[in-house]
Amino acid sequence: MIPHSKPTLDQSDFESVLQVLKSGQIVQGEQNARFEENLSSLIGVKGGVAVSSGTAALHLALISLGIGKGAEVILPGFVCTAPLNAIYYVGATPVIAEVDRLTFNIDVKDLKKRITKKTKAIIVPHMFGLPGDMEDIASLGIPIIEDCAHSIGSRYKDNYTGSFGMLSIFSFYATKVIATGEGGMVLSDNEQLIATIKDLRDYDEKDDFAVRHNYKITDIQAALGISQLKKLSLFIQKRKEIADKYGRMFDDLSIPAPFVPKDREHIFYRYVVLLENAARFMESMMKRGVTCRRPVFKPLHRYLGLSGYTATDVLWERAVSIPIYPSLTDEEVGLIIDSMKLALS
Ligand SMILES: Cc1ncc(COP(=O)(O)O)c(C=O)c1O
Repeated sequence: MIPHSKPTLDQSDFESVLQVLKSGQIVQGEQNARFEENLSSLIGVKGGVAVSSGTAALHLALISLGIGKGAEVILPGFVCTAPLNAIYYVGATPVIAEVDRLTFNIDVKDLKKRITKKTKAIIVPHMFGLPGDMEDIASLGIPIIEDCAHSIGSRYKDNYTGSFGMLSIFSFYATKVIATGEGGMVLSDNEQLIATIKDLRDYDEKDDFAVRHNYKITDIQAALGISQLKKLSLFIQKRKEIADKYGRMFDDLSIPAPFVPKDREHIFYRYVVLLENAARFMESMMKRGVTCRRPVFKPLHRYLGLSGYTATDVLWERAVSIPIYPSLTDEEVGLIIDSMKLALS
C-alpha cells in the first residue's frame, strides 16, 4: 500500500537526534536557538520562536498582536481547523472568506468585502505549497499572519513565503515538508513581537504572573529540524520532479493539472486536482494500493453552519490529493501514474 503521506528521514537525521540524546541536554537549549536562527535567516526575517506545533504558533501570533474578544480575524474556508481553533483560543471572531477556484488560496475580492472596522488580522495559508496573492493582500494594510504550514521554501516574486506578513507560522508535523514529529515556528521582523512570543512560550521563572504557556520543543526535535532543513531544497526538487510527471499524465488526459501563476513557485506539498467523481476515483485508487485523500477534511463554513461559499463547496466536492513526497521511489511514482490512468479511463 502506498500511503498518502510519509516523512522523509535518513541516517543524517538519526545521527543528529542520537547526538542530542547522548549529550543529555534534551530540553529546549542550543539546538533550539540554532533551529530558529537557521529558519529565520533562510526566510529572510529577523527572528524566530520554535514552538510545539503550528497551532501553538498561530495561537501565540494572535496573542502577540493583542487580538481577543471583539476582534475579527479573516481566514479562508478551504483549510484545516487549526487556524479556526487558534482564533477561538483568543476569544476572537472568525470571518470566513471564499477561495479561488484555480489556486485554492484566499479569494482577495471576496476577502475585501468581509473587512470591517473590527478586522484585526488576516490569516493567509499558502495552500498546498502555492503562495497566495501577497501583494494584493498586503496592500489592504491589515496585519497579516502568513500560514506557511504547507509552503516552507516556496517563493512569491523571488521572496520566500513567510517574509511578507507581520508574522508567519510554520508546522513541522510528521508529514509536513520538513518534519520534527510535532513542532512549529513563528517568524517576524518585529523584534518586540518575537520577544513577546518567546516570553509566552515558557511559564517558568518569571518575575510577574501572566497567563503563559508551555509550548516549547525539545532539543531532540530541534536537532531533527536542523537536519531536515538542510535537505529542504532537495526535498522541493524531488516534489517538483514528481509533480512534472503527474502533470504530463494529466495533460495527456486533458484534465487540468494544478495551476501555478507565473509570479510564484509551487513546492507541491500536496498535489491536488479537481475530478468530476472524486469519491469513485479515491476508491478505485485504494483498490490499486494507492491512498489518495480529500486535501481538506471539511471546509470551515460547513463546521460553522454557514452557506454561500460556492467555490469552496466545489473544491471540497472535487478535490483529490495524490501522494507526493521525496521518499516515493520512481517505481512507486510509476505505479501511481498507471493506477491513475486506469482509474480515470
Ligand atoms: C494550513 C495549516 N495551518 C496550520 C496547521 C497546524 O499545524 P499543526 O498540526 O502543527 O498544529 C496545519 C496542519 O496541518 C495546516 O495545514
